[in-house]
Amino acid sequence: MKLLSVVLLLLPLSLCLAEVVNDFTQSCPGFFATPNDVVSPPTGFTGDRFKRICQTLKNEAEFATFYDTTYRIPIYSAYSFTGLKKCVRTDKWYIEPQLENGKLGPNMDTESAVRKEVVDIVNQSVNADYAESRYDRGHLAPVFHAASQSCSDATFTLTNAAPQNPSFNRGQWRRTESHMADSLKNYCINVGLRAFVVTGVVPGPDTLKKQGRVRIPSHFWTAFCCLDNNNISKHSGAYIGENDHDRPVYPRSVKDMDIELTELYSKQFHNIPGFRFTLFSGKCYTETEPMEKQLVVKSAKSVNQSNIEL
Ligand SMILES: *[C@@H]1O[C@H](CO)[C@@H](O)[C@H](O)[C@H]1NC(C)=O
Ligand SMILES: *[C@@H]1O[C@H](CO)[C@@H](O)[C@H](O)[C@H]1NC(C)=O
Repeated sequence: MKLLSVVLLLLPLSLCLAEVVNDFTQSCPGFFATPNDVVSPPTGFTGDRFKRICQTLKNEAEFATFYDTTYRIPIYSAYSFTGLKKCVRTDKWYIEPQLENGKLGPNMDTESAVRKEVVDIVNQSVNADYAESRYDRGHLAPVFHAASQSCSDATFTLTNAAPQNPSFNRGQWRRTESHMADSLKNYCINVGLRAFVVTGVVPGPDTLKKQGRVRIPSHFWTAFCCLDNNNISKHSGAYIGENDHDRPVYPRSVKDMDIELTELYSKQFHNIPGFRFTLFSGKCYTETEPMEKQLVVKSAKSVNQSNIEL
């Protein structure tokens, strides 16, 4: 009996070392909200082109990404938010070796290192796709929300990035991340709730460069679910904005966001039977949003125009 429980305890740890995985709820459940005790990743997308990545650096899983190998951008990244840690930006970019060859190691690695093992990198974006494209490598799981320095370092993988309009990235989206961090701190962490975030994009019709390999998102969105110690959802919400020159970002309830994203995704993905997208498996519907009825982040805070990618 004792031996069995030791084995059971060790099992999840060893599974965490696989990078491209079959099931988030088995391999890296810690990055997803657990409303009503159920590990609840977003639902809706099916098919071989989509891969689940437990984003691993130095043998530690730091967050999770659901990746589209055809459009070569993530659909979403999921993480737990524990407060602002003031991490240093490394700007050392990685890619995912296991998207090219399942036998390669569990850790994200630099493109040049992967090229020593793989002749053609076909299932993900590479640095050249973004070079001179006039788009930022926009982070989904943001550096700014990272739970530790190593987590911050791990956000610099192209599998966590999608082409983002630079003024949107450094303007409205940046302010949304900042506003969200404040409200997660005040309404979740400071009152003893645990905060889970999913951030994603909707692919648009265009690609980086003409007939390029990488789709440009039409929208960026983000959603959060805060749970109490009994796994009851107490607070949730979402934001969405168009990926264009400093377009506004709008607040939504999780329920409305599920409906809107289902419509938006249906326009780009025609052949997924019975497609219905849900952010937290449809379980974090709360109508308790004291704050942001009017967010639409229109504050006049100065925008740092230095060459950064959020
Ligand atoms: C919350 O749900 C997770 C996932 O099922 C479980 O591991 C944890 O024990 C639950 N917490 C409580 C207090 O039931
Ligand atoms: C990469 O994509 C190719 C072409 O779609 C596919 O045949 C191959 O299995 C993929 N590699 C991995 C490791 O998923």
